[in-house]
Amino acid sequence: MIELKNLSKKYGNLLAVDTLNLRVSKGEIFGFIGPNGAGKTTTINMMGGVLAPTSGAVMICGINMADQPEHAKRKIGFIPDRAYLYEKLTGMEFLKFIADLYDVDEDRFLKKSQEKLDMFFLSDRSNELIESYSHGMKQRLVMAAALLHDPQVIVVDEPMVGLDPLAIKMVKDHFKHLADEGVTIFMSTHTLKVAEDICDKIGIIHKGTLIATGTYEDLRRNVHAEGADLEQIFIRLTEP
Ligand SMILES: Nc1ncnc2c1ncn2[C@@H]1O[C@H](COP(=O)(O)OP(=O)(O)O)[C@@H](O)[C@H]1O
Ligand SMILES: [Mg+2]
Repeated sequence: MIELKNLSKKYGNLLAVDTLNLRVSKGEIFGFIGPNGAGKTTTINMMGGVLAPTSGAVMICGINMADQPEHAKRKIGFIPDRAYLYEKLTGMEFLKFIADLYDVDEDRFLKKSQEKLDMFFLSDRSNELIESYSHGMKQRLVMAAALLHDPQVIVVDEPMVGLDPLAIKMVKDHFKHLADEGVTIFMSTHTLKVAEDICDKIGIIHKGTLIATGTYEDLRRNVHAEGADLEQIFIRLTEP
């Protein structure tokens, strides 16, 4: 479960995220959409505990990120938009490095790493250096690493960027499967079709403010546009 309470972030005079209040229930997939510069990455980085809010709080499974960051972070699989990868490690070494950070024991690591490498189509390349990977492979490796410790909450920024259609389908199916098992997922995306397909609820952020939130049907009602697709709703709500 995720809760954002009056969450705000200022960069100098710019209010990048303005008093965000939001709750995502256990097992829900929440899609966070908005124009470039709306404040998605800023919000997600605060949720992941890598950026301190100016005010307000991030609660992960009832744990306050600011008060108990280590405890809260253990609950999260955090997938940033630009992850730092150690290019001189192999994919497998990178997974081991991340597993050690999360105290995943050896038996569990062997099982989980194989499972995730298979799922993310990386098994045959896992002993090669990351520097030899394509962008999409790196993206998939970061996702595999973030899921090794079986997080209860997944926070992910633009997961589909750079992935091919088969990988997008796999990630969608996997997220749905995890949500069915009770994992809570918060994802930003520009791929509105993905949001339509898998998100239980959608939030639209514009200039730092959450301007609409609810199910796809709620958003349609909100703009009085029966039958509108998410792209039409999005444009109607965010066009200048
Ligand atoms: N480190 C930073 N310093 C100053 N301004 C920033 C910084 N990061 C983001 N911003 C600004 O904050 C706003 C929100 O950015 P961001 O959260 O990256 O938006 P999004 O992910 O929705 O495209 C933008 O105006 C951006 O220029
Ligand atoms: Mg962003």
